[in-house]
Amino acid sequence: MSPKDTTTICDLVNEIALLRKSGKINAQIDDLFSRVERALTYSENRFRSVADSEVDAIISTTSGDKIIFWNHGASKIFGYEEKEVMGKSVTMLMPPSLRKAHKKGLKRFLETGVPKIIGKTVETQAWARGKREFPIELSLATWKSHDEIFFTGIIRDISERKKAQKVLEDLNAQAKRRTDELETLIQMVAHDLKVPVVTIGGLLRLLERKLASQTAQPEVENILQHLRSASKTLENFLADLLDALALEKTQNAWETFALDELLKEVFDNLGEEIHVKGIQIDLGDCTPAKVYGDRNRIRQVLENLITNAVKHMGEPDHPVIQVSVHCDGDYVTTTVKDNGIGIPKEYQERIFDRFFRVPKANGIKGSGLGLSIVKQIVESHGGRVWVQSEEGKGATFFFSLPKTASSLGTH
Ligand SMILES: Nc1ncnc2c1ncn2[C@@H]1O[C@H](COP(=O)(O)OP(=O)(O)OP(=O)(O)O)[C@@H](O)[C@H]1O
Ligand SMILES: [Mg+2]
Repeated sequence: MSPKDTTTICDLVNEIALLRKSGKINAQIDDLFSRVERALTYSENRFRSVADSEVDAIISTTSGDKIIFWNHGASKIFGYEEKEVMGKSVTMLMPPSLRKAHKKGLKRFLETGVPKIIGKTVETQAWARGKREFPIELSLATWKSHDEIFFTGIIRDISERKKAQKVLEDLNAQAKRRTDELETLIQMVAHDLKVPVVTIGGLLRLLERKLASQTAQPEVENILQHLRSASKTLENFLADLLDALALEKTQNAWETFALDELLKEVFDNLGEEIHVKGIQIDLGDCTPAKVYGDRNRIRQVLENLITNAVKHMGEPDHPVIQVSVHCDGDYVTTTVKDNGIGIPKEYQERIFDRFFRVPKANGIKGSGLGLSIVKQIVESHGGRVWVQSEEGKGATFFFSLPKTASSLGTH
């Protein structure tokens, strides 16, 4: 078969048959022809059976764009029979807007030999019978025979996949819009509630001072105590809520800073109660522990984890909170370990959810927002946060942060 034309093995076999009929060939050559004929037919049939069992289209072309092979899948996808397309330009299967770029790409490849999409799978558009445009996935290969270059493309119709993708994207966008609306609403409510709540706190303090000058009434004092505690809880809750919502919107101030120094700062600012609990800081082998991120946000993470350890300590004989820092490749991992009440296994995944608190917290106050804020901050820094705990034996929280901007995403 001449590499320049589009003759198939079938055509060659027919030519041999014609020569035979004309009686111009001798017995020996005739025998040779028969063997060649059998070998070629066998080879073509074998290739055809594989190609036709494909649901994808397999199309081969010459370097001049002429179609020389067309399988069953191609007929199904493009709606043309083999005889309608053989020898025609493959550009008939492309929307007009892509033909120029195809010609340019082909010319460039033939001149330079440098492939751009060959050997890869790309998404593009195709044209079926009736000028119906549809999305495809195209894997293109090239092969050489007698110095001529040929191309074979495997084409998959991805219309269904694209449709499903679009539905998913629309649903996601819809869900995001709803969440945004809801968050704005919560933010407005929390914001509007803040002023009256703070006012109630102020009025309470005023009332207390006024009553202090009168004869002490234990009953009144008791009511006041409850009111004070409830108003403080409400105030803290609103502050946490606003904080959690603000997190998603603020632009972070990122820098490389020493985590061990921040830890000392947090430690120095901790209240009396924490020092009583016997907190220890162990910087291990990681000093100075540089990390990349928003210093104030990381401070919030540390404060939340340490406050939790204090709050959920229970009554062990020797309460200990241990904070340690370890370098771990491109990341720095901080551990906050306590020997408090611990977290039952079945709740360990949920404690990072907004508003989740382990049931039966026995009067321990909180809004269940702290750990969700921690998770959000750590993940927005490209890090991870996780917990290990056994009920009654304490809890260990771990969080990792990237050392530098370039470590981001190497987790
Ligand atoms: N160190 C810990 N030991 C035992 N349980 C813990 C510990 N840290 C968190 N938990 C459990 O996880 C829950 C969620 O913690 P989270 O910090 O989100 O909320 P909170 O401390 O209850 O309230 P907030 O932090 O918003 O004031 C807690 O209510 C508690 O049940
Ligand atoms: Mg907390």
